[in-house]
Amino acid sequence: MPGTVEDVDVPSASDVLRRCRELVRPALVDAVGRLHPWTGEMAAYALGWSDTAGTPEPGGSEGKGVRQALALLGAEAVGADAACAVPGAVAVELVHTFSLLHDDVMDADALRRRRPAVWKAYGTGPAVLAGDALLARAVTGLAGTPGDHAAAAVRRLCDALNDLVAGQAEDLRFEHRPWDGPGAVGPEEYRSMAEGKTGALLGCALALGAVLGGAPEPTVAALDRAGRHLGLAFQAVDDILGIWGDPATTGKPVHADLHRGKKTHPVLAALAGGSRAARELGTLLASSRPTDGAAAERVASLVEEAGGRAATRGEARRHLDAARYALRATPLTRTAARELDVLFAGLADRVM
Ligand code: IPE
Ligand code: MG
Ligand code: MG
Repeated sequence: MPGTVEDVDVPSASDVLRRCRELVRPALVDAVGRLHPWTGEMAAYALGWSDTAGTPEPGGSEGKGVRQALALLGAEAVGADAACAVPGAVAVELVHTFSLLHDDVMDADALRRRRPAVWKAYGTGPAVLAGDALLARAVTGLAGTPGDHAAAAVRRLCDALNDLVAGQAEDLRFEHRPWDGPGAVGPEEYRSMAEGKTGALLGCALALGAVLGGAPEPTVAALDRAGRHLGLAFQAVDDILGIWGDPATTGKPVHADLHRGKKTHPVLAALAGGSRAARELGTLLASSRPTDGAAAERVASLVEEAGGRAATRGEARRHLDAARYALRATPLTRTAARELDVLFAGLADRVM
């Protein structure tokens, strides 16, 4: 049966990520090397390859490389060689890096992966430009993919980009929406925002691998769906880490979402509970944003007491299950399906 995990010789999620990073690295280095030297330096900093002086930082603050791995595994899962998906892997990794550069500007987050965000290190204008450069390079590189699938791949990437921008737009607009009453953000609105800002690119990564591997549309669509559910699980976990995460582990400050009035899942779920803690939370949030540490701590403990953290864990679990189901319901090669399953579980396990 495809996609089952009974066998014992399954590599760990970090083994899978490492193998994929090694396969993609030369092409990623080549892509960054084609940028203007200044935007290239910022890109190398953002990718965790070098410090602000351009000095290489081996093993610095590199991301996990989830998206590049999904692209390669998407190809392997449809019976193709991972090599055919490398242009897709590079594209999604560059787009991810671009989206983080711009996201930190939008969210005014000064820290990313334990280091100053690119806008803090180089200035806002340069960081915006570096993001633009990464985006342009991602599309250019994918359009140059050899073979017959470049046009379909670029179309999929552009669709995901449109969804990502729409998700970011909703995320920013929600900051100004009330917590309660008729203007409050509902669960479906939250889901649409999170699927756009986080799920679309994860779905695209898997789908691109399948497209470049020559898979039929129903298989591509199933992988896209799996990645989108994975994104919703991932965002739920990210929302939890934003309130209760340890900055030493996440590399980001805690409570930044609360300070900005971000409509995150744990807070929305807590308010929906209607308990005494939920009512106190509602009153507190309606009176002002928690701008100091003590107020944020109080909000965090009321969210927990009102069941927001548990509800968000449940949300992550449900989407992880849906992602795994989408994989199992699709005919995929056994080894890649097992590796995807391990990777999915590892990502959602960050707090479960
Ligand atoms: C980021 O969402 C989504 C994109 C970069 C498109 P968040 O703003 O919630 O993520 P973090 O917490 O800054 O990583
Ligand atoms: Mg952010
Ligand atoms: Mg954001």
